[in-house]
Amino acid sequence: MSQTELIAGLNEALNRELSTIIRYMLQGSMIKGRQNQSLRAMYREEVTDEIGHAQYLADKIVMLGGTPKVSPDLTPPPDDVARMIENDLAKELSDVAHYKKLADLAEKTGDIELKMQMEEQAADESRHADELRRMI
Ligand SMILES: [Fe+2]
Ligand SMILES: [Fe+2]
Repeated sequence: MSQTELIAGLNEALNRELSTIIRYMLQGSMIKGRQNQSLRAMYREEVTDEIGHAQYLADKIVMLGGTPKVSPDLTPPPDDVARMIENDLAKELSDVAHYKKLADLAEKTGDIELKMQMEEQAADESRHADELRRMI
């Protein structure tokens, strides 16, 4: 496993995070109706977790000698609350899988700090998925 492969995987994770930051920020602004205020609050709260994840990834890419490559998904979010939740749940679960893969790669390179951080970020995304399931 090459360092290049690890940096590419971290860059993919960075762009997933940046896409989520944009989506959650916009959805937190778009949601209306008093019955949807807890969902709105959830997006606004979780966006700060995703900023922390993105910052860690950008720092780590640079520490490993790579360059953070920014190309987030700018597809406008769904305007329907049920579709927002469905879309975000699928993405959070796919982020859990990607962080587990990165934790395995980090273990192979002997980078225990990165392995633990990837597991922690996997756990955060798994918690985000659970919060979304509560909103269905
Ligand atoms: Fe995240
Ligand atoms: Fe998340």
